Amino acid sequence: MRNLPIAIIALLWMQCGHGSETTQTESNGDMYTETFRPQFHFSPPSQWMNDPNGMVFYQGEYHLFYQYHPESTVWGPMHWGHAVSKDLVHWENLPIALYPDELGTIFSGSAVIDHQNTSGLGSDDNPPMVAIYTNHHAEKEQAGDVDFQVQSIAYSLDKGRSWTKYAKNPVLDNPGIRDFRDPKVFWHGPTSRWVMALAVEKVIHLYTSENLLDWTFASEFGEGIGAKGGVWECPDLFPMNDPNGSEKWVMLVSINPGGPNLGSATQYFIGNFDGKQFTPLDTVIRWIDYGPDNYAGVTWSNIPDTDGRRLFIGWMSNWLYAGAVPTVTWRSAKTIPRSLSLKGIHGKHLLHSQPIDELQGLRRDETVFLDEKRFDLPSATSEIIVEIPDGDLESILVQNDSGEQVILRFADGKLELDRTQSGLSDFHADFANVHTAPLDGVSVTSVQIFLDSSSIEVFINSGELVMTAILFPTEPYRTLELTGGMTKTRVFSLASIWK
Ligand code: FRU
Repeated sequence: MRNLPIAIIALLWMQCGHGSETTQTESNGDMYTETFRPQFHFSPPSQWMNDPNGMVFYQGEYHLFYQYHPESTVWGPMHWGHAVSKDLVHWENLPIALYPDELGTIFSGSAVIDHQNTSGLGSDDNPPMVAIYTNHHAEKEQAGDVDFQVQSIAYSLDKGRSWTKYAKNPVLDNPGIRDFRDPKVFWHGPTSRWVMALAVEKVIHLYTSENLLDWTFASEFGEGIGAKGGVWECPDLFPMNDPNGSEKWVMLVSINPGGPNLGSATQYFIGNFDGKQFTPLDTVIRWIDYGPDNYAGVTWSNIPDTDGRRLFIGWMSNWLYAGAVPTVTWRSAKTIPRSLSLKGIHGKHLLHSQPIDELQGLRRDETVFLDEKRFDLPSATSEIIVEIPDGDLESILVQNDSGEQVILRFADGKLELDRTQSGLSDFHADFANVHTAPLDGVSVTSVQIFLDSSSIEVFINSGELVMTAILFPTEPYRTLELTGGMTKTRVFSLASIWK
């Protein structure tokens, strides 16, 4: 959440004409065809969205809940919006799942399937889907109280279509700490307990529970470690096998501000976890994405073992300017879903993010360019894969007929994503910027780019380094230009997921 007090945010929200010019109903035939509307990313039918929440897989459906303000295109009293997908690519919008209540508005959190009905909220035959979220009490905050964030739960017995709030909420009361939010819950088999990771000021607290209803403090992580330029938010904690097949645990922590390229970003730690305490392997600060626009991302719960992937999605924006971006009927989109894996690179562990394979189903009209340096892009939505066998790529530039351009530069041991001339940018002073990621001696042998109508996602060497940025070109980028050595480039036009 921005550092502004909620009262000021509420004032700005009202000044922005709360809902008036922005209301759009689902019957609007123009939906998903508006200027800048992402064609293969999830965005809400209308109005404001921020973090992904409660991602869980159940009975063939991937659920995506999200921080949602149904009355306006700027942040306000939070609800959980809801969509489902059978393939993580095409989404069906469903009615709002969780509305504010007497304990407050509904901030970020997670969802799990309580298969053993440990909570008693369902039955053995019909285990409950349980959402664990933060209730944020704005009036208490305005009154100067510090205990305005508590953790509550709601459950669904019909595949997330209808929700009942637990009668004895909150399940975890506030111990007198202002920033106390964003519970991510998972089942820890070896200790037969639920574990909750909670963002608490600039550290993470872990709690455990046998039934999702009664929680006990287990440990703290993060004192004196990690990036601390802003408050810690939206944690995640999950196991992954390293390349030697040995189990490690990954802790994701979003921070705002204090990212490597201004504003919000998500750092991660690699370590061990014994069911109570997370112990990092080292004190290195690592970022899941060096671009400016991937925030509050966490991973899906209850992905079946037969799939085995660790699937991630982030909010494709930045608190610096999220409320000012030049879209009219809706605000913001999610990143493409990514599959995470743990690799050992140069003696270090690194989290790789790769676009999920399901996206390949959107590919149309492949064109291959062997050593050609300048060519037309087939459409405003495309996937571009550049292979550079000798690793001597210097730059990639995409450009439209008005000269608006995005440039990737590979030089001096770093990758730069330059969006200073990318299109509309005067809505915020910090938008038109050159964003930098360290290459640390990495030889760039492949670059995969996803270009949608208002974003670019760049995956270097199969996800070793990632940069995500939103863009607002006044007309589609039409050409691509490469400088450097030998290249083979494959270009696909990507089909819209909304048609
Ligand atoms: C992160 C965040 C969370 C909070 C939510 C409020 O972007 O600030 O910490 O729960 O957004 O919308």
